[in-house]
Amino acid sequence: MTSTPLLFQPIELRGLRARNRCVLSPMCQYSAKDGFVNDWHLVHLGKFAQGGAGIVFTEAAAVEAIGRITHGDIGIWSDDQVPGLRRITAFVKANGAVPAIQLAHAGRKACMQRPWYGNAALNDADRGRGEEPWPVVAPSSVPLETGWLMPHALSREDIRELKAAWRAAAQRALAAGFEVVEMHSAHGYLGHEFLSPLSNKRSDEYGGSLANRMRFTLEVAETVRAVWPEDRPMFVRVSSVDGVEGGWAIDDTVALARELKARGVDVIDCSSGGIAGPATAAGVKRAPGFQVPFAAQVRRDAGVKTMAVGLILDGPQAEAVLQAGQADLIAIGREALYDPNWFLHAEAALGATGEYESWPQQYGWWLTRRAKAMAKA
Ligand SMILES: Cc1cc2nc3c(=O)[nH]c(=O)nc-3n(C[C@H](O)[C@H](O)[C@H](O)COP(=O)(O)O)c2cc1C
Repeated sequence: MTSTPLLFQPIELRGLRARNRCVLSPMCQYSAKDGFVNDWHLVHLGKFAQGGAGIVFTEAAAVEAIGRITHGDIGIWSDDQVPGLRRITAFVKANGAVPAIQLAHAGRKACMQRPWYGNAALNDADRGRGEEPWPVVAPSSVPLETGWLMPHALSREDIRELKAAWRAAAQRALAAGFEVVEMHSAHGYLGHEFLSPLSNKRSDEYGGSLANRMRFTLEVAETVRAVWPEDRPMFVRVSSVDGVEGGWAIDDTVALARELKARGVDVIDCSSGGIAGPATAAGVKRAPGFQVPFAAQVRRDAGVKTMAVGLILDGPQAEAVLQAGQADLIAIGREALYDPNWFLHAEAALGATGEYESWPQQYGWWLTRRAKAMAKA
């Protein structure tokens, strides 16, 4: 009998045990109203717990209303938003997966159109739908691109208030039953805007040197870690590189990862791009597994666990990443939209179980008999 593939061996992170090393990557649904989750989010996320993921991440949840990317983002800036989220965590747990939340602030990339309305700055057509723009904030008054809103540069007092918003959001996440928290510091959103010299033009202690540009992300990480229980893991998602001349580079990410680890961050989630333009990986050439080398380098050079993400397409590819010691966890995004049972299918493809052993019994019982009938046909 062959041993269980690494991808489907449980993993322990602090006091938490996930049934396997597959993670549903955070994916905005742009389907919330006033930041409240609804049945769409419950069914959407519930599918991946039923589909065998070890950890299921919510999409970016805004820590304050002006930190939403679009009018359709989910939020966690109010206690009233907790009960809806609690329904999701309860369902995810009941289906064997670990519920995880990504806390986020969009900074100067806030106030965008939903992708299907254009993925650009809000315009008159959006106003016509009742989607008014709001004032956006950033480390410096530098808009994303021409035609985008001019952000208000955050003062030290604003930053203090923002940290309080992150703290309160983390406390609400706990109250909602999440077992993993991730700080979003990637894709050109607020944390990343402080990190990258392309968007951070400050001359105070939050700008200039690498240490100063890292300060905001490190302080927010400390703030969240301080209220997040010792026995629960914390992740930080980074854009490992800007992929733009003069931007944030992989050596910077390694330096940041070391500092985050020292502050009790357990996993660095290695994405890339997004500092210019709306797309996440702008400036970084995409091919299967294109961000895996970042996860590998951070893991090796900073000595911290990493999550690999980005065009990881099937079980054997994911297993090879883990076997090569390039990452500890594998996040799956669009493949799971295409096939919500991606995780169960990968498990079978890797020969980890009998064909339907891990499926929810409501499905597996029937599918086993269906397979037998088909074999005889
Ligand atoms: C619809 C959609 C929404 C996304 N929303 C988020 C998000 O809320 N937070 C985030 O960090 N990344 C977000 N991403 C990026 C994914 O988490 C993932 O990193 C990316 O899609 C690459 O992985 P994949 O090739 O497996 O899809 C989103 C991607 C998609 C397709």
